[in-house]
Amino acid sequence: MRRRLSLLAGVAALGLTLAGCGGGGDTPSDNGNAKDATGKVGVFTWWADGSEKAGLDALVGVFNKDFPNVTFDNLAVAGGAGSQAKSVLAAQLKAGNPPDSFQAHAGAELQDYIDADQLEDLSSFYKDNDLSSQFPKDLVDRLTVDGKIYSVPSNIHRANVVWANVEVLKKAGIDPEKPAENLDGWFADMDKIKATGVIPLAVAGSWTQVQLFENVLLSSLGVDGYNGLWDGKTDWKSAEVTTAIKAYEKALSYTNTDRDSLSDWAPATQLVQDGAAAYNVMGDWAEAKFAQDGDKSGVDYTYFPTPGTAGVFDFLADSFTLPKGAPNPAGAKAWLTTIGSAEGQTAFNKVKGSIPANTTAKTDDFSEYQKSAIKDFSQDKIVSSLAHGAAVPVAWLNDLSTAVSKFGGDKNVDGLQSSAAAIAAKFAK
Ligand code: BGC
Repeated sequence: MRRRLSLLAGVAALGLTLAGCGGGGDTPSDNGNAKDATGKVGVFTWWADGSEKAGLDALVGVFNKDFPNVTFDNLAVAGGAGSQAKSVLAAQLKAGNPPDSFQAHAGAELQDYIDADQLEDLSSFYKDNDLSSQFPKDLVDRLTVDGKIYSVPSNIHRANVVWANVEVLKKAGIDPEKPAENLDGWFADMDKIKATGVIPLAVAGSWTQVQLFENVLLSSLGVDGYNGLWDGKTDWKSAEVTTAIKAYEKALSYTNTDRDSLSDWAPATQLVQDGAAAYNVMGDWAEAKFAQDGDKSGVDYTYFPTPGTAGVFDFLADSFTLPKGAPNPAGAKAWLTTIGSAEGQTAFNKVKGSIPANTTAKTDDFSEYQKSAIKDFSQDKIVSSLAHGAAVPVAWLNDLSTAVSKFGGDKNVDGLQSSAAAIAAKFAK
């Protein structure tokens, strides 16, 4: 753990924690070349529905063209943020029954698989495909663990974005072009919205509440304070964290009361699209949904960094792996070839709402939002998402998610704070 912490400590300086820590791994076996691939390649993701499935389909379109002799086998398990998929995958890996490739979040989540010796080293794959020169050097450095690289990132998503209904804001007398600068200002806007009878803030079940919590922590504590929660430098028991949890309690008070029964992120975003709610804090996969549903940016919806987090890019990336014991490793490498390629990244990210990790991918016809995200990523401070596997290992996230869900019911500030502190202490050992 000390090794993980010391490596995570570099986050504030450089931003990315992409699989940037520790880990084992054997000498890679001779497991075939992409160009010789045939048969079926089973790919495990949680992009099962809606705009996420459309993104996957765009990727598969390029894959089918790149590798006509290989058949894509869609092993997607529904549930946003991998809420169902990750445990299904863990069971398959434990049973020695891995897919050919699976989606994982770059950073601490991926590190779990590396530590468990479940992934093949892809260093020679990177060399063969000249990937290191196509991804930003910082990113490659962060992907490198003891001189080895274990995954190919397909995208970069942002988790600290508010999506808003333009008409609802106007009716409440709020200028859609001038978002609040901090949480207090935002809560004042939410009071105005509440007065018009509309739900101020839409949220759904457990993981979307964790993402909201993460945004409030980031806004309230700032970059260093937020990063410190994961590397032990911020005391979970401090007065600053109490203030942040109280702000989260206030944010929750503006949300839809049926939040726990909304199955996933899309129904919460839909409330904004329908004008039933003003705001939804969601990753920029929401941009893909707005686009897919024909909504127009600036007219139907608008977006801005969560108040108090302007200039900060709360980062996550979906990265693809070659698990040890994959039935068709050559097929997996074929898939990873398309994932890493400029063409694959353009086709996928355009539909997914994210931005390419491959800097040579064309983005000329990307949406206005995506162009702004590309710019922001190049100049903002980068932090790692909690809810999306970048900041902490899966077990830590699971325990904290349970505590955050409980708080949604009992609103016990001391209870959440002491649970979160105990969880951090447990995993920081
Ligand atoms: C993934 C995204 C996905 C989102 C919602 C995130 O964890 O990284 O690709 O769109 O969850 O399912």
